[in-house]
Amino acid sequence: MTDKPTTTPIHAQPKGWSPQTWLDRQSAVELQFRYPDERALESARTRLAQLPPLVTSWEIEKLREHIALAQQGKRFILQGGDCAEMLDQCRSEPIANKLKILLQMSLVLIHGLRMPVTRVGRFAGQYAKPRSSPTETKEIDGQPCTLPSYFGDLVNRIEFSESARIPDPNLMVEGYQHAAMTLNFIRSLLDGGFADLHHPEYWDLSFFNNASVSPQRRAQYENMSRTLADGIAFMQNLGEQRLEDSSRVDFYTSHEGLNLYYEQAQTRTVPRRSGHYDLSTHLPWIGERNRQLDGPHIEFFRGISNPVGVKVGPTMQPDELIQLIDALNPGNIPGKLVLIARMGAAKVADGLPPLLEKVKTEDRHVLWMTDPMHGNGTTTSGGIKTRNFDDILSELETTVDCHDEAETILGGVHFELTGEDVTECVGGGSGITEDDLCKNYVSLCDPRLNYQQSLELAFLLAQKMGVH
Ligand code: PEP
Ligand code: CO
Repeated sequence: MTDKPTTTPIHAQPKGWSPQTWLDRQSAVELQFRYPDERALESARTRLAQLPPLVTSWEIEKLREHIALAQQGKRFILQGGDCAEMLDQCRSEPIANKLKILLQMSLVLIHGLRMPVTRVGRFAGQYAKPRSSPTETKEIDGQPCTLPSYFGDLVNRIEFSESARIPDPNLMVEGYQHAAMTLNFIRSLLDGGFADLHHPEYWDLSFFNNASVSPQRRAQYENMSRTLADGIAFMQNLGEQRLEDSSRVDFYTSHEGLNLYYEQAQTRTVPRRSGHYDLSTHLPWIGERNRQLDGPHIEFFRGISNPVGVKVGPTMQPDELIQLIDALNPGNIPGKLVLIARMGAAKVADGLPPLLEKVKTEDRHVLWMTDPMHGNGTTTSGGIKTRNFDDILSELETTVDCHDEAETILGGVHFELTGEDVTECVGGGSGITEDDLCKNYVSLCDPRLNYQQSLELAFLLAQKMGVH
């Protein structure tokens, strides 16, 4: 597979844009939270603007080239991680386990799709969460008490008390520090051979033997893991001992760019390149709730040079999508814009095709990805938020079919997952039921695929999209 970098078109900074112009749009769409202490906000912003960047512009440009290749069907993007990272989860084990599951899934996809895979974590900055309501009301001592909602560890704290819920700008500095620690560990793991295929537990797929999977699925897994093992053995026989020897293990970060004060403070010009880069992450994305054309998020992200993602939900209309694309990528630059469709299993077959058709007819260069998580949330009769593995798989498979039908390219997938053995989503080969959810439910936000469910989904996706 040729993997030549594309030529690098320069993202022209739009006229009238600066890293601050989003501040003028705050009245168009009210920001969900406000910092009451302006002096503390100013000092946190100043501090963040002085601190060194978390990522570099050349890494960002490399990712943009990868995205451009994925748009042409020559590469695939695997994006995944927690719904909300938590500062107190910045510990070696969960980070290493998340990295491991993403590497394993990427190998399954490299093998099944016969193309290189770029891994993008929802890591090192996924600390801010949009909420459906800016406030939350609970009964305290028999009295209703209304406080700001919890917007993630970058903004406020989860405890239901006034002091915890008032947005605290110092948490942006803490978030930055934890992102830096996370990234430092990931970079060291990858440099130190963490992706070494000789790692004894790396290919232990024995859990599939215990899983309550159908005989047909089991046969598929066995067949795939056998051919995968053969492929790895072949590479090793060629003398390419480690994954990074055969295809360098690049790793990129991403997060929802919800808190524009944080994004702005890390946005700067760099020597020998034009434009402004948001150096808090490689690939920021705009959430489904914040993509209003006249809102502050579109204003901020239209001006930066990074590739930018935007979630596309079931209410999106074809004309509106073209307007959004033109706002965020007026130069129609390949690799610049990632559309992450999140329709829900029940709506994708009707909702996605008109959008694919319109973007194709209007010849806009975008990378289509799918997030089969956020349209598939349900709540159990006991009030626990969950997602069903079969709905996730169904959205994924229908999305593949829609792209086949429209002759467009699905260039990546976006999952909420963890490398831990949590019980947050139901279903999958390991047979997690609603009754099991209470066993190890850790997420404070949306339910994530656990280790087995994630790997299983990678196998099933490879099966669906793979070269047969
Ligand atoms: C998310 O990705 O965690 C999220 C909130 O998604 P969306 O904006 O698609 O609802
Ligand atoms: Co989520």
